[in-house]
Amino acid sequence: MWVWIVALVIIAGLLLWWISNRWLCVSRRDLSLDWLPPAWDGVRILHLSDLHSSRYGKHNEKLAARIRELHPDFILAPGDLCDRFAKRGDAFLDLLEQLKGEFPIYASIGNHELRVEQNAPENYRIFRETLSQKSVTVLDNTSVLLERQGQCLRLYGINQPLSIYYQHGTLQQVEDYLGERDPAYPALLLAHDPRWMEQYADWGASLVLAGHIHGGMLRLPLIGGVYSPDKTFFPQYDAGVFTKDGCIMVVSRGAGDSRPFRIGSLPEIVLLTLHTKRGDVDV
Ligand SMILES: [Fe+2]
Repeated sequence: MWVWIVALVIIAGLLLWWISNRWLCVSRRDLSLDWLPPAWDGVRILHLSDLHSSRYGKHNEKLAARIRELHPDFILAPGDLCDRFAKRGDAFLDLLEQLKGEFPIYASIGNHELRVEQNAPENYRIFRETLSQKSVTVLDNTSVLLERQGQCLRLYGINQPLSIYYQHGTLQQVEDYLGERDPAYPALLLAHDPRWMEQYADWGASLVLAGHIHGGMLRLPLIGGVYSPDKTFFPQYDAGVFTKDGCIMVVSRGAGDSRPFRIGSLPEIVLLTLHTKRGDVDV
């Protein structure tokens, strides 16, 4: 009798682990934005965060197929695409190989990339060089103008150094990294760490894409994130859509597995569809 109970517990535990780390979901969110230029109505953004060098299928072909069937106009990737051990750092590069340049990709830097830079600078150099060869635009405290039919948004990517990663940021720090926000265009911001949301909003971000918290290392139905990778309980910005003073932030649970553990937070890629309609967020 006890043998069966123990066996069932082990099987249930393994199943929970597998689902929590390998069951990739697609979350679809429609955002109604009063600042969106008309030419951007209906634009589809694939929000890909925290892949952590995970693979779905050989050479990430299954992940590429999932992305392709969503027909995104852009892929925006706010960090942790490789993992900090840099041993599996080519999984994102595999994905790029599979996608064959079909979609414009813009990325920012996460804490795992910073760890690789610190621990294995040569690996990091190669990673960044390959991204550039594959036409991925890395926004390392820089910005680009995205244009559709003559109407533009400015896309920024922030890179906070590891030394201040677990601190509460200040508006001055955001300005130190990004400079002043260009007042001529709505500002999209790739920011790996969602905990600085108030500062991003004060800086003037219109839409922020973030990750980092993974939905919580432990996530429960109805409650949400219980324990965060930064070793705090009940993280405020665990996953989903958050608003502050007209700024909207979309936090992904992340597309890959995560260490040291991940329980109850299924990996996701998020498809955002932008609409010019006035109003708040439809989720
Ligand atoms: Fe992460």
